[in-house]
Amino acid sequence: MPTPSGILWPRDPHTAAKHDLLRRYLQAWFPILLHGGFSRLGYVEGFAGPGGYTGGEPGSPIIALDIFLDRLDLLRERRLDLLLLEEDRGRVAELQRRLDQTLSHHSSTPAELKMTVRRGTCGQDLLPLLREVGLLRSPIFAFLDSFGGPDISYELVRVIATNRSSEALITFGPTFLTRFGHIDKHAAAADAAFGHRGWRAVVDQPPKQKKPFLLNQYRETLRRAGFRYTLVFEIVDEGGHSLFLLFGTSNEQGLRRMKDAMWKVDPVEGVRYRDPRDPQQMLLDLELQPNTAPLERGIVDHLSEVGPRTVEQLRRFALLQTVYRSEHVPRAVRDLLQKGHVRRSPERGQLAGSSVIEVSSTARWENHEIF
Ligand SMILES: C[S@@+](CC[C@H](N)C(=O)[O-])C[C@H]1O[C@@H](n2cnc3c(N)ncnc32)[C@H](O)[C@@H]1O
Repeated sequence: MPTPSGILWPRDPHTAAKHDLLRRYLQAWFPILLHGGFSRLGYVEGFAGPGGYTGGEPGSPIIALDIFLDRLDLLRERRLDLLLLEEDRGRVAELQRRLDQTLSHHSSTPAELKMTVRRGTCGQDLLPLLREVGLLRSPIFAFLDSFGGPDISYELVRVIATNRSSEALITFGPTFLTRFGHIDKHAAAADAAFGHRGWRAVVDQPPKQKKPFLLNQYRETLRRAGFRYTLVFEIVDEGGHSLFLLFGTSNEQGLRRMKDAMWKVDPVEGVRYRDPRDPQQMLLDLELQPNTAPLERGIVDHLSEVGPRTVEQLRRFALLQTVYRSEHVPRAVRDLLQKGHVRRSPERGQLAGSSVIEVSSTARWENHEIF
């Protein structure tokens, strides 16, 4: 879809998938942080949009507000800030109207909830705004959902990541840079977003490698900024064009919950949503069982490298180093046992967290990189 010019635009199925992911994650994030005992927390958007779509569906700030209003009982005198920034004047006004409307369904605006809606650009204004409202010392969830251009400075991401309890979900569209990255103004903006000029080597990549190259560069940017863990979720529109949602967190619980959300949206591979109108969709295997074959290869590679490991250690390996949930490990190990690629000790009895798994001498695998 071309960049919309009106205040509202129709919501695509892939945007609905993005909202599904956001909703599922926020429903988990809000209670987790409140149980963490923080006195103040923030939900921040740098590209907030108008708060809705032409078909009447809610935009991301309204989705978030609804979740928070539903669970206000959890706040108990702790403060929650919603900080929403949007560049377009008409969309700011529409967003404010929709926020007021959502709040009017509640008897009064709860004192614990503070909302700041501003017109401005994410690149220039979000960091000063975070300072102004005093949110930099509190855990925040930042949703930076641009149309895919590079208007998110590395400095902003670095400052967010400095707080070990803060997280960011960022929309990244490599197509913009593969098409316009040679134009000085966009290249300079991309230098500021990546925090270095290494991404410019994209021009030397073969056509098929350009997007994965940029994606890996940006994922590395998030790690360098300070996020211990990163996850990538691909959203493919009806024309087969990809946008990526990159999630950065330093918190294992956050990583676990985001994976849960991703595997709900994509029950087969946990990494992608494809618009049903995309012709490539027809090529996909429509089984709804998780495909654990890459995890099995990953486990065998890992065991070959580090030696025998308990099932519990393999569960942590899956959580921290693959796209899989730790819950996928027992099934993968059982499949590997059945195929004779691994051995276990003790040999009999229930497979438990303490069961030790090692590669059997007959297993032969090609090196395979799991995402
Ligand atoms: C993808 S839409 C956001 C949609 C919204 N997050 C949702 O899911 O409902 C991107 C928004 O960013 C705004 N925008 C574009 N460039 C911007 C910038 N540099 N800073 C802030 N907002 C910008 C656009 O006007 C548009 O409303």
